[in-house]
Amino acid sequence: MSQMTDAKPLPIIIDCDPGVDDAIAILMALGNKDAIDLRAITCVAGNVPLSSTSANARRVLDLAGCSEVPVYNGCAHPIMKQKGRTSSAHGTDGLGGVNLRDPVTPLQDDHAIDAINRIARETPGGIVLCPIGPMTNVALALLRYPDLRDHIRQIVLMGGACFGPGNITPLAEFNFHVDPHAAQIVMTAVIPIMLFGLDVTRQAILSKSFSKDLAAAEEPLFQAAGQMLGAYESRDPCLHDPCVIAWLVDPGLFKSVPAHVEITLSEGDAAGQSVARTQARHLNNREPNCEVMTEVDVPRLEALLKDSLTTLASESALQTS
Ligand code: RIB
Ligand code: CA
Repeated sequence: MSQMTDAKPLPIIIDCDPGVDDAIAILMALGNKDAIDLRAITCVAGNVPLSSTSANARRVLDLAGCSEVPVYNGCAHPIMKQKGRTSSAHGTDGLGGVNLRDPVTPLQDDHAIDAINRIARETPGGIVLCPIGPMTNVALALLRYPDLRDHIRQIVLMGGACFGPGNITPLAEFNFHVDPHAAQIVMTAVIPIMLFGLDVTRQAILSKSFSKDLAAAEEPLFQAAGQMLGAYESRDPCLHDPCVIAWLVDPGLFKSVPAHVEITLSEGDAAGQSVARTQARHLNNREPNCEVMTEVDVPRLEALLKDSLTTLASESALQTS
């Protein structure tokens, strides 16, 4: 059962840094239009620089035949640094070197911060924000528009490592490490948060043949997804970002615990560390500020991804026939 309310698709904005796993998350969302109404994609610097993340988001929309989804450019570097850090896991182009055509989907004029504000206010009942890259855009939108939080139903994010080691440093996960101040602004915004950290996304490893079978298929969408996954999983086998979308479609795939999470703001390896308190003696009168995801049913996650891509491919084929 998805998060749909009264059988209407959930209105969401994906804030991302494509990034192969971001691309797969976008495709998964587009393959579940009965559960998810993807109102916009906002882009941030992260895995690769902003110019590439926004071009890649548009390339993925072209691939899916969904050029109607508006794409907005956001922040080119973290709040407190002139230059963010990139991740080699996605290749220098950000999509595993898979040669997708130059984007046709247009880039909108508004800044991501203003688009998040406008779309959230236009959405009856509020928007669900899905940040799956460094949280810079979302944090600055919350600072620029203080009452924006009243128009955000929930934040469902990929970031952090609450009960285990980081991936970009021994202590911190990439999205939170790149912009720790943004992560802390989000965690203290007093908005319901579902936190998908490495604790659960490290479990999200597809079966060995999944990407090969996709890449070998006739369908161009399958081929591109399979090639991207094949290039990516040799460096990082974990399907981080799609966990966020999978939860929106089928929350029963996951288990979570309530926790108070705060972000370490020091320099060095600890920057962006997500310190989670779950036990009363550690909470020490602090209220939990999020649900931290702890378990995922991987076979069902993989089946959902396959079904999502199949649905999207058939819709795209219908459009072009
Ligand atoms: O640590 C994994 C996260 O960092 C994912 O969102 C990946 O795309 C990168 O942004
Ligand atoms: Ca990402």
